Amino acid sequence: MTKIIIIPGSSREGSFNRKLASSIAKSIESHGATATEVNLSDYPMPIFNEDWESENGAPAEAKALAQLIAEHQGVVFVTPEYNASLPPLLKNTIDWLSRGVGVKVYQDRVFALAACSPGGLGGIRCLSHLRDVLLNVGAEMITPQIAVGQANTAFNEDMTLSNERTAGMLDGLSATLVGRIKSASAT
Ligand code: FNR
Repeated sequence: MTKIIIIPGSSREGSFNRKLASSIAKSIESHGATATEVNLSDYPMPIFNEDWESENGAPAEAKALAQLIAEHQGVVFVTPEYNASLPPLLKNTIDWLSRGVGVKVYQDRVFALAACSPGGLGGIRCLSHLRDVLLNVGAEMITPQIAVGQANTAFNEDMTLSNERTAGMLDGLSATLVGRIKSASAT
């Protein structure tokens, strides 16, 4: 079974990115894969500090999240854009996951990106920064991505996307991600 984990870069109640994570889960499942949605508030980690790390090692929560990711062949980061870049919650998580967590999180799986914002650009500027970060840690990434703007009106009640074009892009992202994982596991 193809398993994909979806990690929103916002943990707040009512987060648009958590809603988008649910839309993505639905879409991924329509392509025959299993989706796991994470809430990063279940994995609280201190702001990265090398002194803290020398004393304590990686936090148990970072190790637990890494273990969970290890059970999946695909990862989707779904993120808000803060001042045109990554929110600290997501960057801190990415940094901890790159350390001694017992799993090479950024290898042997395929990554995809999505963003959501109440603004018109949908967080697309964050996605180019995030893509750069992940490419530099050696992650394999698919090209399709989605940035969902006007978040206040972007979701139907069943968590599908209200804009037909964006819904089509999400379908393309899911098809590409599931297809890439299946072709990688067939070789
Ligand atoms: C924002 N927001 C924002 N939005 C955007 O489209 N581009 C941006 O550069 C920023 N910058 C920014 C900085 C900071 C510090 C905050 C707190 C917010 C607005 C942001 O998109 C909005 O709060 C979203 O609702 C956050 O995502 P969640 O929590 O709804 O998933």
